[in-house]
Amino acid sequence: MAVKEVKKYPDPFLRKRSEEVSENDDGIKALIADMFETMDEEDGVGLAAPQIGISKRIIVISVDEKGFDRLALINPVIEYFSDDTGTMEEGCLSVPGINADVTRPTKVVVRGTTRNGRMVEISASGLLGRALQHEIDHLNGTLFIDRLNERERKRVENELEELERQYTAIMK
Ligand code: CO
Repeated sequence: MAVKEVKKYPDPFLRKRSEEVSENDDGIKALIADMFETMDEEDGVGLAAPQIGISKRIIVISVDEKGFDRLALINPVIEYFSDDTGTMEEGCLSVPGINADVTRPTKVVVRGTTRNGRMVEISASGLLGRALQHEIDHLNGTLFIDRLNERERKRVENELEELERQYTAIMK
């Protein structure tokens, strides 16, 4: 197991659509272990494989709800979004130092495969529903900052520009 480096905005890798996972072997189990370790190290509540540079449809989540304090899902798909929406503050290990309000459906139903190869369907609201939507967005190249209203977008504009400057400086 190892803590991996988390890719940061505006790294273009974060904008790729991740690949479906067809195998569920020891390599995938080791990857999931690394994802949990990286998430814990960074004090995150969730992490998607592309955030550590792996283009695979895998997410891990740890929220304070029974049975979901250590959830890993392979090829997760959102099968249902509620019409009701709610607004909560979000942050992301790939967008360090920035928190902003995001409006999303309050309830989702997600289907996926656990690391033990079991197909599950999870009906989720609250923090779990929020985390599932945020992490699955990563698999499609979407970041929470793409979902801000104009006011929130303006509020974090300077901080985003600072991250862009830092990224450009590292690449030079
Ligand atoms: Co994130």
